[in-house]
Amino acid sequence: MHKILVTGGAGFIGSHTCTALLENGYEIVVVDNLSNSSRKALERVRIICGINEDTGASTSPANSRLVFHECDLLDQEALAQIFAQYEIEAVIHFAAFKAVGESVEKPLAYYRNNLQGTINLCEQMAKHGVKKIVFSSSATVYGVPDSVPIAETAPLRCTNPYGWTKFMCEQIPRDFANADIARSVALLRYFNPIGAHPSGLIGEDPRGIPNNLLPYVLRVAAGQYPQVNIYGQDYPTPDGTGIRDYIHVVDLAAGHVSALKYIDRHTGTEAFNLGTGNGYSVLEIIQAMEKACGCPIPYQITERRPGDAAEGYADNTLARLKLGWIAQYGIDEMCRDAWNWQQKNPRGYENASV
Ligand code: NAD
Ligand code: WQD
Repeated sequence: MHKILVTGGAGFIGSHTCTALLENGYEIVVVDNLSNSSRKALERVRIICGINEDTGASTSPANSRLVFHECDLLDQEALAQIFAQYEIEAVIHFAAFKAVGESVEKPLAYYRNNLQGTINLCEQMAKHGVKKIVFSSSATVYGVPDSVPIAETAPLRCTNPYGWTKFMCEQIPRDFANADIARSVALLRYFNPIGAHPSGLIGEDPRGIPNNLLPYVLRVAAGQYPQVNIYGQDYPTPDGTGIRDYIHVVDLAAGHVSALKYIDRHTGTEAFNLGTGNGYSVLEIIQAMEKACGCPIPYQITERRPGDAAEGYADNTLARLKLGWIAQYGIDEMCRDAWNWQQKNPRGYENASV
């Protein structure tokens, strides 16, 4: 059977997408250098999906439903070997560095990893006749938008090096598809992924102090930090705090399965927003999390964070009409599942036996 190559499959969105792919009958090969993830995530994906293969002895990797290769996309030789070893039908490309603040401090590391990784991947695809790729893009490519909801046709502009890597990386598979009419590309622009698998076995495991709102709120709820710093309450929004389109990571994962089916039937390149279409303010998120965890979450108002937009939420019409995809989970379920993950894994995957 042909396999789906998932780069960055041990990460937050990747591990949830691996689960969705396996549940939909796909066989997958995961490539990850574990620079921001743990192999335990994939062991837990196996548990969720009921995969107890003995990959060492009786089952050869080619027959396994989930194979993992610890490999850096910048290592062209190792990547070439993987493409030579398996019959890859399509690629889902998550592997990238993603921390906005770090990208400002280390822009070249971000350009090298994200751009070169994508180039190497497309090169191997070309060499091995693999014609389909789903690329993890981000609503960050819209920068500070002129208006909301944001459609795919909105002007693209970025406010930090990470965002520029996504902007530039979108162009690489786009031109890859332009060079061969049989190729197909889906650029998925995620809004703000949060939540965790309802089992509490996999979830987001940021290293160090989280940059994003939800992981920070979770640590305050768990008593690890004293309070949430709200970056500005003087935005032109109803309660003055920033508004975003938070989306459950399980919904996002399902969007990848839909995108894979779409590129199977279409050629060329198409960009899709993956968001719920609903915006929630920082204060509303804190309230929803208080409800989920049953305890007060202290906060203080601080300065605005440079580069932040007042509000951003998706026009998801295209994903609904063309992918047949729509988000199922609301904000309460996102907070419930995130809290469940936090409680079951107070230190993420660290120190867990599996
Ligand atoms: P993540 O850091 O949890 O996952 C990325 C994975 O890629 C990690 O497991 C990491 O070890 C791996 N990786 C990084 N560089 C690699 C390389 N050179 N070779 C092999 N593996 C490498 O991040 P995530 O939140 O799951 O994000 C997945 C993708 O979605 C990224 O491309 C990110 O830019 C994009 N995205 C994320 C968000 C978000 O808020 N989480 C929003 C929009 C877009
Ligand atoms: C959400 C809201 C903050 C933290 C980022 C990336 C984007 C994408 C998703 C990858 C904003 C406020 C935050 C805190 C706060 N990632 N906030 N206190 O900035 O919308 O998007 O993650 O592609 O590229 O830029 O998400 O979670 O950082 O912020 O008040 O401690 O919460 O100002 O209004 P953002 P976020």
